[in-house]
Amino acid sequence: MSVSNANFLLLRPFQVNNTEELDRVLEIAKNSLTEYYSPKLIVDLYEEWPEGFSVAEVHHKVAGFLIGSRYSSSEARILMIAVEKSYRKMGIGSSLLTNFIDLCMKKNFSAVRLEVKTDNEEAIKLYKKFNFEITSRISAYYSDASDAFTMWRTI
Ligand SMILES: CC(C)(COP(=O)(O)OP(=O)(O)OC[C@H]1O[C@@H](n2cnc3c(N)ncnc32)[C@H](O)[C@@H]1OP(=O)(O)O)[C@@H](O)C(=O)NCCC(=O)NCCS
Repeated sequence: MSVSNANFLLLRPFQVNNTEELDRVLEIAKNSLTEYYSPKLIVDLYEEWPEGFSVAEVHHKVAGFLIGSRYSSSEARILMIAVEKSYRKMGIGSSLLTNFIDLCMKKNFSAVRLEVKTDNEEAIKLYKKFNFEITSRISAYYSDASDAFTMWRTI
């Protein structure tokens, strides 16, 4: 099943004052990502760049999210992207990425950077599909001492 062009997939801004929504984002992060993210960090990241934080809603339920940041006037970063397991492989991650890259184009960024675990094949495949290239490896980047690839894409 693909939801990428279906009208039941809604991409919209994160609702920072909705505690249920914050809990849902934290739940997806906990189930999908290996690092721990506190509620305060999520809110702080939203406040740094509200437009860079989007959620994907399917049938009125948040199924995934993407948090971006503005590293400089020319470079944006993807800090987190996650889709709840039962909603994966339906195009939601691609829709979140497309939406973020469109935003970066509108804001005149010239590049987007991200870090990804070197063994995260699904995510690396997704990023490559979106023309991100591996440019370097950072050793012991994550709290479990695993390495990251840095990936870049020009806009
Ligand atoms: C990475 C992630 C966000 C992808 O979300 P998704 O909604 O499943 O992505 P899509 O359905 O849009 O898939 C897009 C592409 O990603 C790749 N992909 C996604 N899941 C994959 C899998 N299980 N195996 C191989 N490739 C996969 C494929 O290239 C796919 O394109 P295709 O369907 O044309 O082959 C999701 O797997 C996830 O949340 N993973 C856990 C969190 C995570 O690792 N985040 C990235 C941290 S850097």
